[in-house]
Amino acid sequence: MGKTWGMRKLSELLDLSGRVALVTGGAGHIGLAICEALAEQGCALAVLDRAVPETLCADLAGRFGARAEAVVVDLADEAAARGAVADVVERFGRLDILVNNAAFVGTSALQGWATPFAEQSAETWRSALEVNLTAAFVLCQAAAPALSASGHGSIVNLGSIYGVVGPDWRLYEGTAMGNPAAYAASKGGLIQFTRWLSTTLAPAVRVNAVSPGGVARGQAVEFLARYEARAPLGRMAVEEDFKGVVALLASDAAAYITGQNILVDGGWSVW
Ligand SMILES: NC(=O)c1ccc[n+]([C@@H]2O[C@H](COP(=O)([O-])OP(=O)(O)OC[C@H]3O[C@@H](n4cnc5c(N)ncnc54)[C@H](O)[C@@H]3O)[C@@H](O)[C@H]2O)c1
Repeated sequence: MGKTWGMRKLSELLDLSGRVALVTGGAGHIGLAICEALAEQGCALAVLDRAVPETLCADLAGRFGARAEAVVVDLADEAAARGAVADVVERFGRLDILVNNAAFVGTSALQGWATPFAEQSAETWRSALEVNLTAAFVLCQAAAPALSASGHGSIVNLGSIYGVVGPDWRLYEGTAMGNPAAYAASKGGLIQFTRWLSTTLAPAVRVNAVSPGGVARGQAVEFLARYEARAPLGRMAVEEDFKGVVALLASDAAAYITGQNILVDGGWSVW
């Protein structure tokens, strides 16, 4: 036999040396975890966000020896989003990985967002769709030629459990927390766009989604207790939980995985 001796080692399959990734929302909580993971794999990084703290890229470069540069763009602006991709390809000379992680997540103070259904506004609905879905479409379209030329093109879209299942309103009783319809619809759309694009860009570019469960971030104690009780793994997520799956999907270790939505939710959506 002996046929398997030509196989690459796992460390080689996960290696991203010489490749370039564009991570949107890279200055956010999960975005930074993704940047760290890709930098550790040897990837050069274009960290796109509305604002990127001055130290962030220097920290990534210092800790992982990776090239990291900020790309400051508001993704609600289509021309700016397209321009950002061209800018990255020009600056870095190539693009191998696109992570659509930025999202309009609103705030509790935003009117017409995290309120009961009757009070949710078409304006916040449009804002969510614009960043969470339209910007991902625009970036994928703009990046497709460079990703196709890469030889290792990979797109990872950040979905959500709420793009897959409906909210369990019992978790929210007695709290001021909400769960906007627009967020769920935008994430459901992004997951289906992932499937659509995976067959459209195959075989040159793989397209997958990662759908996080809720991340612990100071939620109301009643909510936290109910959420944890409903999670088979007994806790909410932490940012580190998303490193491994993005590291896998971005790399040749996932060379035969496309069109998938991987739920990283501690089993929350299984029952
Ligand atoms: N935190 C959770 O519980 C959770 C759960 C499920 C899915 N997700 C998804 O994971 C991803 C990351 O979430 P997070 O928790 O790190 O959120 P976050 O708010 O910490 O990070 C999102 C980043 O996107 C950036 N961003 C938003 N709008 C932008 C725009 N118009 N232009 C450029 N940048 C913009 C923000 O500035 C921010 O840095 C999102 O897609 C989110 O929907 C998060």
